[in-house]
Formats: sequence, C-alpha cells, structure tokens
Amino acid sequence: MAPRKRLLIIGFIVATSLYLVATGWFGTGFYRRQGYYDDDDILLNAAAANANSVGGVQSNKPPVTSSNKRILLVSALYPLSKSKHSLEDYQWWLWNYLGHVKTDIYFFAPPALHDLVSQARPKPNAANSKEGSNFFMKLNTTYPTVFDVPPLKGLRQSYEEIHAKDRERSYHSAELYAVWNAKPFFLKEGLREMKETWGKDYDYAFWVDAGSFRESPHKYEDWPDPARVEEVFAHASSEDSIFIPMHGMPSFKWRKWKEEMGPVDQDISEGSFFGGSQKAIEWYTSTFYTYHDHYLSLGHFVGKDQTLINAILLLFPDRFTTVFWRDITQRGFVRTYIGIACGGEWWYYQFFLANSQTRTEMEKIWLEKQSNRQKKVQEWLVGKPQCPLIPPLTLKEVLYRAFGPYWKPVPATVVPKKHVR
Ligand SMILES: *[C@@H]1O[C@H](CO)[C@@H](O)[C@H](O)[C@H]1NC(C)=O
Repeated sequence: MAPRKRLLIIGFIVATSLYLVATGWFGTGFYRRQGYYDDDDILLNAAAANANSVGGVQSNKPPVTSSNKRILLVSALYPLSKSKHSLEDYQWWLWNYLGHVKTDIYFFAPPALHDLVSQARPKPNAANSKEGSNFFMKLNTTYPTVFDVPPLKGLRQSYEEIHAKDRERSYHSAELYAVWNAKPFFLKEGLREMKETWGKDYDYAFWVDAGSFRESPHKYEDWPDPARVEEVFAHASSEDSIFIPMHGMPSFKWRKWKEEMGPVDQDISEGSFFGGSQKAIEWYTSTFYTYHDHYLSLGHFVGKDQTLINAILLLFPDRFTTVFWRDITQRGFVRTYIGIACGGEWWYYQFFLANSQTRTEMEKIWLEKQSNRQKKVQEWLVGKPQCPLIPPLTLKEVLYRAFGPYWKPVPATVVPKKHVR
C-alpha cells in the first residue's frame, strides 16, 4: 500500500473517532458548549432552545398513574435595566407560560410589571372549571428591584466587584447575578406565603424560569404531572430530595474538587427548574445562601448560580435527584440523530415531567416540524421516531459514572444554618 493511501486511511479513522467523541458517543459530549444562557434577560435566563436530543432506555418501575399531590410553581420577572428584549418579548413568553400552564403559580415582579403579568394569566373561572387546574396565581410586587430581595440586599457593590472575575463578563452583569441568585429565596418564600397568608398547602413546589416555555405551540397544561413528580421522588434517596435537571457530565477533573475551591465552573446543573418538598426547599435555600455568603467572603465568583449549585451537588449528592439525558448509558449516536424528536435538549425536563397524553401530543408537534429526510433517518436508526422517556437518576449515580466507583462525596464543613437575612 502506498504510504499516502495508508495516511489517508489513518486520517479517516482519526477523524471518525473525533467525530464520535464530539457527538457524545462516549457519554460526555464535548461539543455544544455554547453559552446556553440567553443572558440578557430577567429570570427568563434559561437557554436557547437548541434542537437536540435524548436517546435511551426506559424505566422499569411501573408508572404511577394518578396522584393527588399538590404542586406549586414559583416564578419571577425582573427585567435587566439594559435588556435587549422588548415588552413584546416578555408578553409573548409570559403568555406562553402563564396563559397555558394551569398549575398554581406564585409570581414575583416589580410593581411596574403588575398589569403585564396579571394580564397574561387567564381568569380562573372563565378559563377552566376543572378542579386543581384552574390558572390560580398570586402576584407579589413587594420587591421593586432584585437587589431588594433579602438575601441580596446590599450586595450590588460586591457583585460589581466579582464581575471582573467572570469569564463571561462581556455579556453578564451584577444585576443578572442577583436575578439568578434570588431564585431559591423566591421559591421558599412563595411556598411559605401560600401557606401562611393564603392557607394553601402544597406537597411540592418548583422554581420555573418565567421565560422557559418558548416552544410554541406547546401542550403543557397540568404540568408538571403530579404522578410523574411522585415517580421521580420515588426513585430519589429521600422524599425530601431536590430535583434539578442536568445538562452536562461533570468533567473527570472535578473528582479532586474540594469545598474550599469554590463554585464549580462547568455547565452541569441547569438553573431553570428545581424544587421538592417544603423540607427539601428549606434545606436547599439555607444551604445555597450559606455557601453563597461563604464563597463570596472568600472572594470567589458566585455570580452564576449554576456553578454554585454544582458545588452543592458535589458536597451533598444524597440530597439531589435529576434527569440527565446525556447520561453515559443513553446512546450518544442515537441522541444526535433523534434530535428534533424531543424539542430542545435543555427543556427535556418539561417533556419528562409531563403526563403520557401530553408527551404524545408534544411528540406529534415535534414530528410535524421534521423534514421527510429527518424522519427517514430516524426511522432507519431507531424505528418509530419518538422521544424516549429516560429514567430519573440520583446525583450519586451520576457522580459515580463521572468519577468512578471510588469517588467519595466531598466533606462539607460549612454548616448550613437557618438563613436569617
Ligand atoms: C410578598 O412576599 C414577601 C416575601 O415572601 C412577603 O413578606 C410579603 O408579605 C408578600 N406581600 C404580599 C402583598 O403578599
């Protein structure tokens, strides 16, 4: 064989392997590291809905078919002063969320947005009479700006200072950090207010980014489905776990991470949706702000909530449960090609937490958006083009996969105390 030919063959093999690694064939998925945050906004932060995918196995536990668990969603909208989004953008996002998802919602916004937010929510009685799915909403306009929220009061200066340490500083701001870091407080307070002021008790509460329903049309109404939520927590190590979707496999290097090293800078956890029981939320909130204050006092960059959450995940993996479509057991190759059958990969948790009827309806919507060629490729690869429902994972399961079976959770020395501010 001529050396040139041999070189070509070797080159081909190398290129193919690189491609497979890049597309996540080996579980980690190195590409698609773009900024997922649509950074210039509110608590709409979340992500550009990248059409990508989930491949996978099915859970073997029997599904819970009905559930009487009461669920509260908590959201907020604090536009950044230099936001590139228009009023129409907000209106559209709000309507796509508040106008469709019927589950009870507690909403925080500045007084100036009172009308915009309340108009996006249909009136309970006129819209729907079915019990428990009634477009109920409480709007709270107590905080004029996000820096008026108790755990963030007086932090503007420090946030301006840590801005210099942010590798993404060109498109982040102190105000955005506050918007991200206010979420656990809002979630805890929304749930507490509903109970203490309005006498309404819930089994689970979840934070939802107000701009996270960008798929249009979508069919998420009685969402999240209480039975699905119950199933997810049945898999968790405790009833009082926090559920948080994951976006990326922790890099192998983090196996040596220690508490004093501060926030873990990688796209691992997603910040757009999380929650659990009241007990779980109370624990999470006090832990979040304890570490927030601790790391801030040590001069660490705490502006991006996801990196702070990542640290907490490594410290307390027993407390968390997740859905992780990039899990090593989910076939990367299929994932790449199935892409559009699941909508955007960042939002997979929406599909994952919906009831089976809604999931079927969403699959139909996604299928209609596909070209004939995409459909054919999918049919050839995986048979019926549908979005797989993958099982939930505990954080420990994920971390053992990332770091190997000898990894041990990192000892936590900063004891979370009741947050008093
Ligand atoms: C708004 O929320 C805050 C924090 O939970 C609470 O102290 C306040 O009473 C609420 N205000 C109204 C009008 O519900």
